[in-house]
Amino acid sequence: MADIERIVILTGAGISAESGLATFRGADGLWEGRRVEEICTPVALLQDRELVLDFYDQRRLALAEVEPNAAHRALAWLDAHWPGELLIVTQNVDDLHERAGATRMLHMHGELLSALCGACGTRGGFAGTMVGGPRCAACGQDAMRPDIVFFGEMPYEMERIEAALMAADLFVSIGTSGAVYPAAGFVQSARHAGADTLELNLEPSAGSGFFHETRIGPASLLVPAWVDEIVAR
Ligand code: APR
Repeated sequence: MADIERIVILTGAGISAESGLATFRGADGLWEGRRVEEICTPVALLQDRELVLDFYDQRRLALAEVEPNAAHRALAWLDAHWPGELLIVTQNVDDLHERAGATRMLHMHGELLSALCGACGTRGGFAGTMVGGPRCAACGQDAMRPDIVFFGEMPYEMERIEAALMAADLFVSIGTSGAVYPAAGFVQSARHAGADTLELNLEPSAGSGFFHETRIGPASLLVPAWVDEIVAR
């Protein structure tokens, strides 16, 4: 494509793998030996609240042990220097894009460092652990939950994402298996709307066939190389 001005970047667990955070569906995946339906659903929260809260408490604690890697840093650099429109849509609930310095981004599946009151809907920054933790400061109910989009719940900011996909000249997917919709369908939306589409992943994903181009390798190498390439155009 000759003129690229508007870029949408989708990231998944693979971009944080080299920072030391396990992916969801790899051999070392978080869900290995445990069905996701046991943990990441509204029903599980009702039936086994402590298990769900503890699971995310452990993920939140793990964040303190890791740092952004070269792929997060390259995207943050692009965010700071790209003169056109750019939106990083992450499925990740870690804060490594922000810690690397990215600002034009959103968390479509929520954030570990945010809490949501299941009773009144108040959302706010949260650190620490939820098991035996605080009541909602706004309504006083014992209904705090991780501000995470569970299976069967609507991802955040879908209207903004759809608008960006419709306008995109280039859609880039990084480190995601293409197993979970609606994110897995973004490539088709963007391509249908006329965008060039590129996948950067350790292995071919479920949606590789939808991309104009797929590059195979670790994000820490592929992403900085692609950023160099796009700014040199
Ligand atoms: N570099 C690039 N890609 C990598 C790397 C790496 N170093 N390591 C792993 N990958 C790739 C894997 O090959 C895999 O295709 O990242 C992908 C990770 O896939 P998943 O574990 O399925 O993670 P993701 O696609 O982000 O999951 C989507 O599923 O459970 C839900 O809400 C959760 O946001 C999550 C969603």
